Amino acid sequence: MKVTKFVSSSLKDHSLKQFIYMRKQFHSLMLVMALFACHSLIAQNAPEKYRPLIHFTPKSNWMNDPNGMVYQNGVYHLFYQHNPNAAVWGPMHWGHATSKDLINWQHEPIAIYPDDLGTIFSGSAVYDKDNTSGFGKDGKAPLVAIYTQHDEKAIKAGRNDFQNQSIAYSLDDGKTWVKYSDNPVLRSSASPDFRDPKVMWHEPSKRWIMSLAVADHLNFYSSTNLKVWNRESEFGLNNGAHGGVWECPDLISFQYEGKTIWVLIVNINPGGPNKGSGTQYFVGDFDGHQFKPYSNDTKWLDFGPDNYAGVTWSNVADRNILAGWMSNWLYANIVPTETWRSGLTFPRELGIEKHSGEYYVTSKPVKELVGIQSSLLSFKDVDLSKGFDLMKRAKNASMPCQIDLQLLKVNNVELILSNPNGEELLVGFNKEKNEYYIDRSKSGKTDFHPDFAGVFRAPRISSDNKLSMSLLIDQTSVEVFADGGLSVMTGIFFPTVPFNKIMLRSSDGAVVNEIQYRSLKSILGK
Ligand code: FRU
Repeated sequence: MKVTKFVSSSLKDHSLKQFIYMRKQFHSLMLVMALFACHSLIAQNAPEKYRPLIHFTPKSNWMNDPNGMVYQNGVYHLFYQHNPNAAVWGPMHWGHATSKDLINWQHEPIAIYPDDLGTIFSGSAVYDKDNTSGFGKDGKAPLVAIYTQHDEKAIKAGRNDFQNQSIAYSLDDGKTWVKYSDNPVLRSSASPDFRDPKVMWHEPSKRWIMSLAVADHLNFYSSTNLKVWNRESEFGLNNGAHGGVWECPDLISFQYEGKTIWVLIVNINPGGPNKGSGTQYFVGDFDGHQFKPYSNDTKWLDFGPDNYAGVTWSNVADRNILAGWMSNWLYANIVPTETWRSGLTFPRELGIEKHSGEYYVTSKPVKELVGIQSSLLSFKDVDLSKGFDLMKRAKNASMPCQIDLQLLKVNNVELILSNPNGEELLVGFNKEKNEYYIDRSKSGKTDFHPDFAGVFRAPRISSDNKLSMSLLIDQTSVEVFADGGLSVMTGIFFPTVPFNKIMLRSSDGAVVNEIQYRSLKSILGK
């Protein structure tokens, strides 16, 4: 009994201790779990390091060129060069995202997968409203995608005809795609670079016109049904820049002073205005067969290092809206992001302007930007000789943001983004050189490629005696639209901690007529 008592009291004692011990353990476990939950909540809400907040990026892994951009039924489709298996370039698929406003994007399942004819390189999509292709069914007109198939097997077999053009159609608003049974529809002319078909409807001749990049020039083809293509002409052997391969062309038109003006966009890599990839354009006439430029000068759509492979959305009535891949082949595969690589530039509305007898294409952020703008803070007649601390003056200021500067005189002006680690990104105008610049030489992580750090310049095209700059600043990019979009620059950067300060200064004492500041709402997690 005693023993029993003893045993039982000692047991009780032991159980009590155990109970207290276990309760402590339980509480610590709960605390750890709560902390963990909190942490992952924060981690979930906090954007990943370097993830842009107002630009489209793939959920994970690699993206390069935007593809098949088409508007239909109130929805903007963005397909894009995508490697779903790694954050570096690899076997290309068409990733897919949709948007109602060009700014907030919804990720969609992969649209087009590689097949026996090859992986899926860049191309375009059209809304075949009159069902010229015959793919439509029960009164539903199809979306038709026209893309390059890149055949690694043919390369291994030592052949040159490894890039051919194929088509696919969708009858469910771009959700699923059926590949045409007679692909490819346009076989390689045996040039190893034979790709990136961009198709448009040419109303005067009632035919589809395809611009196709062939080595360092373009071919134009026509078709009445998107299946049979006839060669019309070629362009470019003696025009524009030839420092690299021509890629991703786009033929678009504008109404200007009662006249139709044609613009041919041609991406080139390398051989851009700064190093690496760039986008040139030609202004001229197109008669349904041939493109004739008004001048042979090389004009650049964007003088910054990071706007490549840009083309426009098709079927957007009277607007020309372009978006590019916000990177450069020089370093795209090794930029210091981990789970994904690259994003899309902010979509831009293109226009035409005449200066000193020459036509130029202007680019401005699309007007839908208003949807993410916070209220305006305006500072008038600001003397920059002593510098102006914008973040301090604009209470509750935050990034990303839009900054608009109006100068009544053409003076030096410089905007400095900086962080507590002493890193900075400079954007400005140099009066003596008459050029805009982005200087990212001390912008943080730059050592992953020898050409990343540096100063990138854009000539001032306007001769107006007023000067304006509009900047879209995201966590890791700046887009500069100067003089109403005549001189444009896009640059990415990777500070070790986010930039949290914005200063303005002027070495020749500029007075800024007005500084406008708006913070921009993040599109992440929508
Ligand atoms: C341009 C480009 C295209 C090609 C695609 C491959 O960046 O080289 O010419 O179709 O990327 O991903």
